[in-house]
Amino acid sequence: MRIPEDFFIGASSSAWQTEGWQGKKEGQDSYLDTWYKKEFFVWHEGKGPDVATDFMTRYQDDIDLMKKIGLEAYRTSINWSRFFTDYENLEIDEEYAQHISNVIDALLNAKIRPMIAIEHYEVPQKLQDKFGGWNSREVVKLYVEYAKILFNRYGDRVKDWFTFNEPIVPQTRIHLDGIRYPHDLSPKKWMQCNYHKVLATALTVKAYHEMKQEGRIGIIHNWELSYPRAESYFPDVKAAHMYDLFHNRLFVDPLVKGKYSNELLDLLHENNIMFDYRTSDLKIISDNTIDIIGINLYFPTRVQEKLEIYNSKAAFNPKKYYDVFELPGRKFNKSRGWEIYPPMMYDVAMIMKNEYGNFPWFISENGMGIENENQFRDESNIIQDDYRINFIQENLHWLIKAVNEGCNCEGYMLWAFTDCVSPMNAFKNRYGLVEIDLDNNLNRKIKKSGQWYKTLIANRTISNYTDFLYEEKKE
Ligand code: BG6
Repeated sequence: MRIPEDFFIGASSSAWQTEGWQGKKEGQDSYLDTWYKKEFFVWHEGKGPDVATDFMTRYQDDIDLMKKIGLEAYRTSINWSRFFTDYENLEIDEEYAQHISNVIDALLNAKIRPMIAIEHYEVPQKLQDKFGGWNSREVVKLYVEYAKILFNRYGDRVKDWFTFNEPIVPQTRIHLDGIRYPHDLSPKKWMQCNYHKVLATALTVKAYHEMKQEGRIGIIHNWELSYPRAESYFPDVKAAHMYDLFHNRLFVDPLVKGKYSNELLDLLHENNIMFDYRTSDLKIISDNTIDIIGINLYFPTRVQEKLEIYNSKAAFNPKKYYDVFELPGRKFNKSRGWEIYPPMMYDVAMIMKNEYGNFPWFISENGMGIENENQFRDESNIIQDDYRINFIQENLHWLIKAVNEGCNCEGYMLWAFTDCVSPMNAFKNRYGLVEIDLDNNLNRKIKKSGQWYKTLIANRTISNYTDFLYEEKKE
């Protein structure tokens, strides 16, 4: 199968998951830094953003490796909490701002397209403490000012901007599920943060277009693709629809179509979680839709009708409308529990084509990481990660099939370029094309998949893949 010439192939990461705290100043903690400091015990082996991959000092080495592999694009974020020394008076930390400039120049020198997220959970803790973070319109305002500074500084060189990475995630864990620090369970706050990120995106899109930057601005959304247990059974189909409304449409509809669906708004009212807004916001949202969307897609979600009566006194949770269903015999990644189902690529592509007017998009994250990759190390000290090669190949196969059928998907980005830190799982599941050796000074080494990715980019061909069933390698 040929990969079209104009279809880009890259890899993703983020500032906080790679940078490390080298050079970070007093008072520059992000929400994530605080969470890690307060509850480091929930992070696998106590590892977290403090060291990460030390990209702050080793970025040039990593970009040299990207060049060696032939990466066409690299997506990361700018760390809002490190960009200023005063977030309200917008006093820039020139040292950090220069670092970002250097990273962008290094990428461009290596002929790698820089794709930048303005926020990847790096909201400053000071704004969290003073205003309650994304619960506040004040934070929306400060965020838009921050974004404008980035466009002014780097817009000549960066042509692909994203307001947020996975905007729904932090407040879902904090306010809806109550499982992450500071465990402030409040479904109303959950919805308010969701809304403020939609508004912040529309205002930022407006500012970006007014500045005539000749690039594009979008968002990165973690599409939670839901399949009903039984297509033929209406209550299951309805359950999958409800899942979709509360996990996808509440962001993608206003951002791409300029409007929330009445069905979702009715449900928010019915459950007393309608967000506060000003009527003038709605025009801003409808007039300033995004130019492109990145979709993070790792696994499908299967749902069925709710089997037990929901406790009507419990705090609202979309789980009120569905139960999660585990497909018997499914392929899955044992280190993560995620089902492996490559046709999801084709299915999401058809949603973008048929329900969003063939809107431009790309896969901004997809990948597979397992625990203890050491089991795949060969005599020459190289990780033989065939499982990752198979995973990428299968997923790309379904994606390119959709491209060949006219869907407007522009590229594929693997998570991640190097192994990196994840919330709580830290370095547990290894996702990289490049190994980070935690026992040896964070040394970098290209894995078998990195060599394979190089050939893939050079030859632009996917060979016939085998429908593998992942098995742990036995001694
Ligand atoms: C993605 C997140 O959903 O999953 C990343 O965007 C994360 O931030 C990745 O690193 C892998 O997660 P984990 O927990 O398996 O390391």
